[in-house]
Amino acid sequence: MKTVTVSLGDRSYPIHIEAGLLPRAAEHLASLSRGRRMAIVTDENVRPHLAVLQASLEAAGVASEAIILPPGEKTKSWAMLSQVCDRLLELGIERSDHVIALGGGVIGDLVGFACSIVKRGCRFVQIPTTLLAQVDSSVGGKTAINTAAGKNLIGAFHQPKVVLIDPSVLDTLPPRELRAGYAEVVKYGLIDDADFFAWCEANGAALLAGDPAAREYAIAHSVAAKARIVGEDEFETTGQRALLNLGHTFGHALEAEAGFSDKLLHGEAVAAGCALAFGYSAAHGLCPAEDAVRVAAHWQAAGLPDGLSAAGIDAPAERLVDHMRHDKKASGGQIPFLLTRGIGQTYLDKQVSLDDVRDYLAIQPR
Ligand SMILES: NC(=O)c1ccc[n+]([C@@H]2O[C@H](COP(=O)([O-])OP(=O)(O)OC[C@H]3O[C@@H](n4cnc5c(N)ncnc54)[C@H](O)[C@@H]3O)[C@@H](O)[C@H]2O)c1
Ligand SMILES: [Zn+2]
Repeated sequence: MKTVTVSLGDRSYPIHIEAGLLPRAAEHLASLSRGRRMAIVTDENVRPHLAVLQASLEAAGVASEAIILPPGEKTKSWAMLSQVCDRLLELGIERSDHVIALGGGVIGDLVGFACSIVKRGCRFVQIPTTLLAQVDSSVGGKTAINTAAGKNLIGAFHQPKVVLIDPSVLDTLPPRELRAGYAEVVKYGLIDDADFFAWCEANGAALLAGDPAAREYAIAHSVAAKARIVGEDEFETTGQRALLNLGHTFGHALEAEAGFSDKLLHGEAVAAGCALAFGYSAAHGLCPAEDAVRVAAHWQAAGLPDGLSAAGIDAPAERLVDHMRHDKKASGGQIPFLLTRGIGQTYLDKQVSLDDVRDYLAIQPR
């Protein structure tokens, strides 16, 4: 088993990663149950894994209660938040109880937020079941729901007490979801780890085909990168944590254009967004053109979109830039942009002109 620690003083927590961890989850959870029933929140698609988790707890003498929500991004809503909170209160959750979030980023974000406000904050455990959640959303304590005004605009920082990652649960994940999560894996290489990007080039295909060793290595490496960044900048104040948003400003505009629908998954938008960030940087002489080519080639090899056309976006540049103006990171007509000097050399530029971005997007193939 690999263990990575998120170092945040008295809020530090371990992330355990091992194939076959879910059936043995009670080894890590029984001591947290305090002899009481544990609440598990999950979604309908995760039922097979819920059964494994509950069996593990039962064998350890821990009773559990499942709250099963509909799958999908719409579940990150006020309505579901109030439903989960009401149910947790009915179950008599105390501040020192641990609620288990078993699912993808939707469940993790919703349950984490619910746990930040129930009784002014109860504890929770993340058991992520998508690749995206295993390498990104389950670590770092950002929790949120979506509202009419946009995605993730209501939320809180609330760190889990432990994260249990079993890469084997990815066997049931639809391949398209796996690929979308893989985009966030590669992102860590693009940010500040050229060697890891090269590892992805060499091993990405094996990972996507389900190779257990490749999967475990990539997850542990990604989680360690995220843990380090979160440990340095938990609340995104120094700019370090903002590096994790590489490809996300472009990507967010594409997601908004696709109506945050299944037409374009978040990870797919991030892949296209990273390609655009590299393309923009290369077009402005900031990064070698061959690095932008390498990134696009890797997305193609991985079956991920490498730009607007592959992402199925044919909107005029002005409309895409309009979406950026509504990005929650926008202020005073400017958005901090993640640009790059090359693979593994991402930096934050607060002076990027949206007019330049529009001109660049206007000449991208549709
Ligand atoms: N908090 C953060 O730091 C952070 C970071 C990145 C993304 N996010 C959020 O994460 C969300 C996206 O997460 P996601 O991609 O995991 O989406 P998701 O939770 O919707 O899961 C994707 C799909 O896979 C299904 N699923 C989950 N596990 C499965 C399994 N093992 N087998 C079969 N099906 C399974 C789900 O039911 C869903 O249909 C977004 O809301 C995004 O805003 C949060
Ligand atoms: Zn993301």
